[in-house]
Amino acid sequence: MNNTDTEVLVLGGTGKTGRRIVDRLLALGVPVRVGSRSAQPAFEWEDRSTWEPAMRGIHAAYISYYPDLAVPGATDAVRDLAQVAVAAGVQRLVLLSGRGEEEAEAAEQVIRTAGADWTILRASWFNQNFSESYLLDPVIAGEVVVPAGGVPEPFVDADDIADVAVAALTEDGHVGQLYELTGPRMLTFAEATAEIGKALDREIAFVNVSPAEYAAGLAAEGVPEDVTELLMYLFTTVLDGRNSSVGDGVQRALGREPRDFYDYAWDTAQQGIWDRA
Ligand SMILES: NC(=O)c1ccc[n+]([C@@H]2O[C@H](COP(=O)([O-])OP(=O)(O)OC[C@H]3O[C@@H](n4cnc5c(N)ncnc54)[C@H](OP(=O)(O)O)[C@@H]3O)[C@@H](O)[C@H]2O)c1
Repeated sequence: MNNTDTEVLVLGGTGKTGRRIVDRLLALGVPVRVGSRSAQPAFEWEDRSTWEPAMRGIHAAYISYYPDLAVPGATDAVRDLAQVAVAAGVQRLVLLSGRGEEEAEAAEQVIRTAGADWTILRASWFNQNFSESYLLDPVIAGEVVVPAGGVPEPFVDADDIADVAVAALTEDGHVGQLYELTGPRMLTFAEATAEIGKALDREIAFVNVSPAEYAAGLAAEGVPEDVTELLMYLFTTVLDGRNSSVGDGVQRALGREPRDFYDYAWDTAQQGIWDRA
């Protein structure tokens, strides 16, 4: 039996995966509540008094932690949130997790044992980091500078994550599944940057720097220290080759291939998102 007539909460519902999930659920006619600081009622990870009102009357919840399950306190927050959710009557929890992050696996375990139906979406780096996040401005400026070396990553598309999340939130066949969500092939950051340049028909330079140079560059741009620490962790620890394999989560969950990076780059280029001002 599909569950499309009871309300679904989408935490991070204005973010890269969340807003795509909200759009899809609304198109299916599923009642949706966005969980974020700008939503009504507001949901804020740092303010636990906002959690229970967000969960009231909810059947299934998509949990996208912010900023990242690897930051200190994330596992405790997810554990406490899951308890609040189950106590409020939420029956299904779908967690967005990060591939290759030990700390994220601790949060996955918390969700598996929370007492609700669960699905884990363990995602690789998103394509949309190049168009909706910290790599957008560098692409527009024509130069991507990161400490990424030659490590290949199977970038995954946020649209594929959203499709899997909606299936897990509304259909019964995904309960108890851990999906490794990746794209269909691996690319280094240099190759991904080159594919964007090809789609734009414009050269986008790629510059590989040392982690220390990258951190110094972020500091010079005034990037807050905690954001710098997270990016350093992602580029040095998570991007050490541990994720250099493709997963089969999109295929298992949806019975189709994931979106290729070049298709993402082409579509995004057509939308003008990388055009110079
Ligand atoms: N980016 C990747 O490549 C990647 C890969 C694998 C896993 N992930 C995981 O994806 C998750 C989301 O990361 P993202 O970079 O993609 O962010 P995002 O979902 O694009 O954006 C952040 C979302 O969280 C909300 N938010 C921000 N601060 C909040 C707070 N203090 N309390 C409540 N809501 C807050 C924002 O809405 P408001 O501003 O309205 O609050 C927005 O909806 C993280 O757990 C990350 O580990 C990301």
